[in-house]
Amino acid sequence: MRQIPMREPDTLLEVRDLATHFFTDEGVVRAVDGASFDIPRGKTLCIVGESGSGKSVMARAVMGLTRAPGRVVGGSVLWCPDQDGQATDLATLHGNSRAYRAIRGPEIGMIFQEPMAALSPVHTIGTQLAESVRSRHAVSKRETRERGIEALARVGIPEPAARYDQYGFELSGGMRQRAMIAMALAAEPKLLIADEPTTALDVTTQAGILDLILDLQSETGMTVMFITHDLGVVAEIADSVAVMYLGRVVEHADVDTAFHAPAHPYTEALLRALPSIHAKTGERLAAIPGMVPHPFARPAGCAFHPRCHRFRPGLCETREPENVPVAPGHGARCLLLKPARKAAAE
Ligand SMILES: Nc1ncnc2c1ncn2[C@@H]1O[C@H](COP(=O)(O)OP(=O)(O)O)[C@@H](O)[C@H]1O
Ligand SMILES: [Mg+2]
Repeated sequence: MRQIPMREPDTLLEVRDLATHFFTDEGVVRAVDGASFDIPRGKTLCIVGESGSGKSVMARAVMGLTRAPGRVVGGSVLWCPDQDGQATDLATLHGNSRAYRAIRGPEIGMIFQEPMAALSPVHTIGTQLAESVRSRHAVSKRETRERGIEALARVGIPEPAARYDQYGFELSGGMRQRAMIAMALAAEPKLLIADEPTTALDVTTQAGILDLILDLQSETGMTVMFITHDLGVVAEIADSVAVMYLGRVVEHADVDTAFHAPAHPYTEALLRALPSIHAKTGERLAAIPGMVPHPFARPAGCAFHPRCHRFRPGLCETREPENVPVAPGHGARCLLLKPARKAAAE
C-alpha cells in the first residue's frame, strides 16, 4: 500500500474532496460531492446537517461500505493510524479487500443508524462480540466470553449472559442498538464512527451510551466521529464541528466557534432554529425555512442560496464558493466571506 505523508502528523483521518455518487435509472445523485474535513487524534468531531445532506453516505464511504448503485468517484480518505505521519488512502482500496477488512472493525469501528444492518442474522450476538474482542486481544475462549458479556453489561443490557447466546432478531430494537454499540466498542477501535447512534434510544440510555463513549475515549485515546441531529450532544462531546449541506462540508470549526461565532449563514440558521443556544440534550435541529433540495436539482452557485437570509443577487447564484480560511482551524464555504489574512490587511 502506498504511503502518503500527512500535512499534520497529529491528524488521524483526513477526508479530502470526497465524492460518492449514486447512478440510478433516474439520473446521478451526487449524495457526497466534495466533502473535506479532518480529525486530530483522540478528539471528537461532530458532523451536523439536515436530513439528506450526505452524512451517512459519507460515513459509509470512509468505512469502505458504499453499496451499488453508489460509488466513490473522487477524493481521498487518508488514514494515519501511527504517529509516523504516513497515511494510507482508503479510497484507493476495494471495500472487500483484505487490507480494508483488517482496518474496518478493529481499527475503525462503526455504529450504524439501523442496527439490523450491522448484526448478522446467522451468528449469535456472542459469536459476533467474540470476533470483536479477538480482533484486539489474544485471549482465551473463556476470557473472550467474559469480556463479551461485560461489554453487553456496560451498554445497559439486562441479563447479558443470556443475551450473549441469542440472535439479533430475538432482541428488541433498543437492545439490538445496544448490542451493536457493544460490538463496535469491544474492539477498542482507534476511530469510532457513530451515525446518530442514540436517536432510537430513551434519554437515560442515551446519556449512558455517551458516558461510555467518553470513558473509553479517556481510557484508550479513541478518536470519535459522531453524526447527530442533537445540538445538545454536540455541545457536550464535540471538540470540533463539521456542518454538511448537500454533500459538502460548508463550515468546519472548533465547537465554541461553531456555536458562538459561526461564519456560514447555514450554520447561523441551524443555531437560530434552536429555541436557545444553550440547547439541552434531546433537542433536535428545528426546521429552517425552505426545504433541502434533492441532489438531482442542486441550485447553481452556492447551493444554499435559495434559503439563505444573506443571499446577494448577482453573486451567490453565479459562483460556487471555495472554502475560505476565516481563522486557523476555521473555514467556511460562503462567497460573502473574506480570507483571514486579506480581512486583516483591509
Ligand atoms: N441507495 C441510494 N440510491 C440513491 N440515492 C441515495 C441512496 N442512498 C442515499 N441516497 C441519497 O443520498 C443523499 C444523502 O443521503 P444520506 O447520506 O443518507 O443523508 P443524511 O445521512 O445526511 O440524512 C440523499 O439525497 C439520499 O436520497
Ligand atoms: Mg443519515
